Amino acid sequence: MKKQQTSEDVKELKDKFAISQYNQLVLSGVDSIKDVEIFDTTLRDGEQTPGIALSPEDKVRIAEALDKLGVRYIEAGFAASSEIERDTIKKINALGLNAQVLSLARSVKGDIDAVIDSGCDYIHTFIATSDLHMKYKLKMTPEEVRAKAVESVEYAREHGLKVQFSCEDATRSDLDFMKSVYKAVQDAGACSINVPDTVGVIIPKAMTYLISELKKEITIPIAVHCHNDLGLATANTLAAIEAGATIVHSTVNGIGERAGNVAMEEVAINMLANYGIECVNMEKIMETSNIIQGITGVHMAVNKALVGANAFAHSSGVHVHGVMGNALTYEPFKPEVIGAQRHIVVGKLSGAHTVEGKLEELGIKFPAEHMPELMETIKKLAVAGKTVTDAELVAVADDIMWKKSADKKECVLDELTVITGRSTTPTATVKITRADGTVVTTSDIGVGPVNAAVNAIRKAVNEDMTLEEYKLSAITGGSDSMCQVAVTVKNVQGDGNMSFGRAVGPDIVETSVNATMAAINKDFARIKNYIHPEE
Ligand code: KIV
Ligand code: ZN
Repeated sequence: MKKQQTSEDVKELKDKFAISQYNQLVLSGVDSIKDVEIFDTTLRDGEQTPGIALSPEDKVRIAEALDKLGVRYIEAGFAASSEIERDTIKKINALGLNAQVLSLARSVKGDIDAVIDSGCDYIHTFIATSDLHMKYKLKMTPEEVRAKAVESVEYAREHGLKVQFSCEDATRSDLDFMKSVYKAVQDAGACSINVPDTVGVIIPKAMTYLISELKKEITIPIAVHCHNDLGLATANTLAAIEAGATIVHSTVNGIGERAGNVAMEEVAINMLANYGIECVNMEKIMETSNIIQGITGVHMAVNKALVGANAFAHSSGVHVHGVMGNALTYEPFKPEVIGAQRHIVVGKLSGAHTVEGKLEELGIKFPAEHMPELMETIKKLAVAGKTVTDAELVAVADDIMWKKSADKKECVLDELTVITGRSTTPTATVKITRADGTVVTTSDIGVGPVNAAVNAIRKAVNEDMTLEEYKLSAITGGSDSMCQVAVTVKNVQGDGNMSFGRAVGPDIVETSVNATMAAINKDFARIKNYIHPEE
C-alpha cells in the first residue's frame, strides 16, 4: 500500500481514472492531504447491524481479511459485552496482525477493565455529549459527563492503554462544551479524538466547520465517524478530511447501525482518485467486500457504489458502444483498480454493440453476417425487461451457428463404456472418430459416471476443455423418465471459445455425453468454416 504517489503512479492513475476536472480545481485551495488512516469498525459498529451476529470464528476470519486489506486500525468489538467477545478479541490480538487492534468501551471502569483483559493496548472510549443524550439517556449534567470522560482516559492511561476518545452524538452537541471535553481528554493523555455523527444528521459544510473549529483547540489526530441516515456519510467524511481529520472510521460495504456507517470502499476510492492517497490495498476491495457479504449474509443492492453487481455493468447500446471504444466513457475508473470486473448485460435495450461486446467477453466468435438473426432472437427473449443470461446467450448464438453448419460433425462418438457401482471407481472409455478418419480411444476416471465420461472425452478431444455449466432436468416424473441435459463447454479448440450443447434421452450418462458431443461439434463447426456467409 502506497501512501504517497510518485509521478509514475500519477500517470497510471490517469490511465485508470476519469474523474471530474473540477475536483482538482476546487481542491487546489484546500490544504494538501498527506495521509488518511482507515479505522475499521466492521467488527464492532458493523456487527451492530440488525440481523448480524458473528461467531468468534467469523470475527477472526474478518480480522484477517481486514489486515490483508491494509486497514490501520481494527475495532474488534466491545470487550465488556460478554466473555465470548473478550475471548474473541484476545484471539484477534494473538494473530499478531499489522493493524492496531482496539476495543470499544463506555467511559466506565468495568468496560475499561474488560478491554485490558482482552489483551488490547489501545482503547476507544466514549461518552455522549449532546443535550438529548445527557438528559434522556445518561441523566447526567455536562460537568459530570466531562469529569467521567477525563477520569476514564486517565484510568486507561494509568493501565498503559493508548486512548481514542469520542464525544458520542458530537454533531448535535454544544460546540463550546464539546471543545472543553475534547481539550480535557487531550490534556489527560488521549492519543486521538473521534467526532461521531452518531445519527447521520450533519451536512458536509457543517462538518467542515465543526472539524475546523476543533482543530483550533486540538493538536492530537482527529478521527471522524459518519453514519449514513441521510445518505451523506461519504460526503461528510470527505468534508472532515478536507478540514483536517486524518483518521476515518468506516465499515466494509457500509454496514452498521440503521442505515450503516460510511463505506470503506467509497472513502478509499475518493482518496485515491482525488488526493492520490492509497489508504488500503485497493485491489483487495472487491474480495474483502465479498468475504463480508458472505459471512454476514448482508448482500449489497445491485446499484451499491463500487461493490454492487451493477457497479460496472453496461447494458444500453449507447453505453456499451462507448465502453468498447474506451471503458472510461461510462466508468469513473477501471474496475480492476478495486479487483472487480466489468460486465456487459444483454437486455431489452441492448443493441448489436452490446451483444457483440458480450460475445467477445464470453469468448464466442460469432459470424457478423448472422447478427440480425441473433438480435431478433434476443429481442424476443428479453421482453418485459428480462436480462438474457450468459448461458442463454451462448445457447442462442450456438444454436444459430449450429443450424448454419448443417449436419457436419467433426467428432463422432462410436463407443461409450461406463463402469460404475458401489466400491468401484467410476471409469469410462470412449472411442471417437474425427472427420479426417483418425480414431482415438481414451479412458478416464471421475467422481461419478458422467464426470468419468466427460473426462475421457476431454482426453480424446482436448485436455484443456472445461465443462463450464451442466444442467440436468427431468422431463417427466418417475425413474424411467426422460431427462434433458444442457452443457456449456469452453476451450474445445484451446481458443477460449464457449459452446453450448443440449440432448434429451432416457439415460443420464448417455444424454450427458450426447450434450457434450453436441457442444464440441458446434465449436468445431465454427472453426471449420462450415458456416458460409451465402448459406
Ligand atoms: O455512532 C457512534 O456514535 C458510535 C460511537 C460509539 C463512536 O458508534
Ligand atoms: Zn457508530
